Amino acid sequence: MAKNDPVEDCELKVSKINNGTVIDHIKAGMALIVLEMLGITGREGTQATLSLNVQSKKKTKKDIVKIETRFLDKDEINQIALISPNATINEIRDFNVVNKFQVKLPDKILGFPKCINPRCITNAREPPKQTYFVKTMEPLNIRCKYCNISMNQQEIIKQLTK
Ligand code: CTP
Ligand code: ZN
Repeated sequence: MAKNDPVEDCELKVSKINNGTVIDHIKAGMALIVLEMLGITGREGTQATLSLNVQSKKKTKKDIVKIETRFLDKDEINQIALISPNATINEIRDFNVVNKFQVKLPDKILGFPKCINPRCITNAREPPKQTYFVKTMEPLNIRCKYCNISMNQQEIIKQLTK
């Protein structure tokens, strides 16, 4: 890459974190949704940096989110997989990457999102756990086990960020 490439310079300026999580290779433009899904508004005081539409080594655009002192659980990682199937999770301890893996969308999604069908049993009182089957990955389409309704990525995002 050219020495004074502004895109490269931008990415290099984002500082390393001490302890926490770097979500890298997020689908370009989706980082704000990732933050919203994780419940990070900024107002709770979480220290985070985000890069939107920066150039990756593969010369394509990506987003990056770095969150200090926050580690993600399985559900949070699967939610990220729903909106960005190529994201990588880097766990940082004492400035070192101690764990790195790519998110993976399971065939069956349990516990989220809220079903878009208001009459679905999962939206009733004392509901069973939401359960969806992944019909297609690209474009993303999932089907509710209980009411059979299908949801596309846009609908899923809407439900996850409500
Ligand atoms: N990172 C960070 N703070 C650290 C260590 C790493 O913010 N203390 C970030 C890096 O800036 C990078 C990501 O975590 O965005 C992964 O780090 P690393 O594995 O060192 O980078 P790459 O080898 O470039 O990652 P990949 O091959 O996954 O693209
Ligand atoms: Zn349903």
